[in-house]
Amino acid sequence: MSEVVRKPTEFRRACEDARAVQRRVGLVPTMGALHEGHFSLIDEARSRADFIALTIFVNPLQFAPGEDLACYPRTFESDLAGCRERGVDLVFAPEPNAMYPPGFQTEVSVKELGKPLEGGFRTSHFDGVTTVVTKLFNLTGPCTAMFGRKDYQQWKILSRMALDLHMPIELVGCPIIREADGLALSSRNRYLSPSERERALGIVSGLRHAYDAWAHGERDPNTLRSLAEEVIRPTFDRLDYVAAADPETLAPSPPSPSRLLIAVAAHLGSTRLIDNLVLGEDPRP
Ligand code: PAJ
Repeated sequence: MSEVVRKPTEFRRACEDARAVQRRVGLVPTMGALHEGHFSLIDEARSRADFIALTIFVNPLQFAPGEDLACYPRTFESDLAGCRERGVDLVFAPEPNAMYPPGFQTEVSVKELGKPLEGGFRTSHFDGVTTVVTKLFNLTGPCTAMFGRKDYQQWKILSRMALDLHMPIELVGCPIIREADGLALSSRNRYLSPSERERALGIVSGLRHAYDAWAHGERDPNTLRSLAEEVIRPTFDRLDYVAAADPETLAPSPPSPSRLLIAVAAHLGSTRLIDNLVLGEDPRP
């Protein structure tokens, strides 16, 4: 049975109580609208910890004006049912006022890793993410925290933040969960019309194109990037980027890398999708 708490102080207390009886806390931060991608993080948490805390908070600080904050899917009852089924012990679902009371004015920012890729298109997004996750880490206390590599840059930024600020948190980056046809699961996929859902597969086709070229020995970052882009561009209404980057620094890759991140952000109508693949590491998507 998953206990639900709304107040930050209650959440902190429940995590402290778990640690007091020698339970390792596994944290899964989410914005709700849970799907198999989120559930895979819960499963990973269960394999590494024995008290599983999942947070559901649609964090206003990480949405820019004009983004989908107001219509972001909120499916609390079915999220809770999913949490119960998957063995979550504690659900923390605070109200925005509890996280950002009047007068709130502190932000946490990771400088360089936040600039490329998503940083060029969602300028204050990562400061919103690092600030809320700092708050969640502070409330949880020492724990193992699960993040999906679907949001590859987010995972790298949060890992850097935890290291730089001596946070007592072990971060785990978990593989991308995809539909049977390869589309990466996302809470935003439910915005897609049937024809957009079909066209969304252009991303995974592009990533596969780059994967196959890599498997045949191609190592030029720009060639691999272009191969992905030429497949992706025609099926989308607009591309923010198809980028080839160093998987650790997220900076442009040196020539002949041993691993290469291909990262994509593209629009179908009013829906923005992101996906990525680390060549030389990830399986064929
Ligand atoms: P949200 O988009 O709800 O995602 C919560 C976690 O689930 C993130 O770590 C994300 O990378 C992971 N995830 C989403 N789709 C996935 C998939 N298909 N496969 C594997 N993991 C997947 O990311 C956020 O929320 C927020 O920015 C948050 C970290 C909670 C801060 O507000």
